[in-house]
Amino acid sequence: GKGEHRHYMAKEIFEQPQVIGDSLNALVNPSTRAVSLPDLPFDLATVRRVTIVACGTSYYAGLVAKYWLESVARVPVDIDVASEFRYREPVLEDGGLALFISQSGETADTLAALRYCKEHGQHVVSLVNVPESTMARESHAILQTLAGPEIGVASTKAFTTQLTVLACLTLAVARARGAISAAREAELSQALIEVPARAGEVLNHDERIRAIAEDVMLARDVLYLGRGASYPIALEGALKLKEISYIHAEGYAAGEMKHGPIALIDDSVPVVVIAPGDSLLDKTISNVQETVARGGRVIAFSDADGVERMKDSAVYSITLPAVDPFVAPILYAIPVQLLAYHVAVLKGTDVDQPRNLAKSVTVE
Ligand code: M6R
Repeated sequence: GKGEHRHYMAKEIFEQPQVIGDSLNALVNPSTRAVSLPDLPFDLATVRRVTIVACGTSYYAGLVAKYWLESVARVPVDIDVASEFRYREPVLEDGGLALFISQSGETADTLAALRYCKEHGQHVVSLVNVPESTMARESHAILQTLAGPEIGVASTKAFTTQLTVLACLTLAVARARGAISAAREAELSQALIEVPARAGEVLNHDERIRAIAEDVMLARDVLYLGRGASYPIALEGALKLKEISYIHAEGYAAGEMKHGPIALIDDSVPVVVIAPGDSLLDKTISNVQETVARGGRVIAFSDADGVERMKDSAVYSITLPAVDPFVAPILYAIPVQLLAYHVAVLKGTDVDQPRNLAKSVTVE
């Protein structure tokens, strides 16, 4: 049941500290506090290229993983949505790792892409929430999110647990390839181990985000901006909002604003900025200033330092915990979920069963 919550989506958002912790505990050795993946039928050290395929929110989890795998594990990554990948005759070198991300494990296009990769000499690994699913059965190995059943059509806890497992995979690949020092690996595992506690702190902003939703609910269009691994979080924030509130929303890489989207900015367009304290924060802040100069109303999600630096630009800001930038995407996913949720509730839409959408897309 929904417990104390009005909707499954709210329950699932608030379960995140728990299920992120469960997903992590399954992959972190309690005595060494190092990540250890289940045994794989191939050697991660031999993987020269990773191909990631998924749909919707699972695709955005894969996009974050691309940033992680390239910057931390130094392995080249290709990523595509399954409905494009399966028809574009992608070129795959033997022995690559093909990674399929799917909450349900039943998404038709992702499954077709999986079969293509299997026929083309890839090591096929699926990251699924349902271990009995078709994709799990047809893969050489599976990684599992321990999110528990996700009932809300809008994916929330599946996404953050996917990110958690993908962060673990990144550390395992980095170690196998000799791309990370033991000290840095220990730092990143420690940051991961602290995510459940930090996620709990993020959820404490629920009331304040509800207040921001009262303003956002009046908008016709909303933009979401982020750079680096925060760019997929901007895309995910926009998807969440459109799915359940039916407000038009778009996510953009913050640096792309001046290549077109900035023409949309006026004082009727809220601009949600995903701005963790990473090496890209300065650049994101300059994009915020350009937006404000054109009348845009900025809603900033950042840490204390970022919020301070945007205090004259942002109409609203939420101060998230200061964390290692590596784990920021997991934590910054939560406020965008809460914002979409509260906007939808205020608009009175059917939050758990939004119009035209199915939980599992098993037809093409
Ligand atoms: O079960 P899957 O992860 O393969 O589903 C993929 C998408 O259909 C799914 O993430 C969809 O985009 C959600 N409604 C997003 O909230």
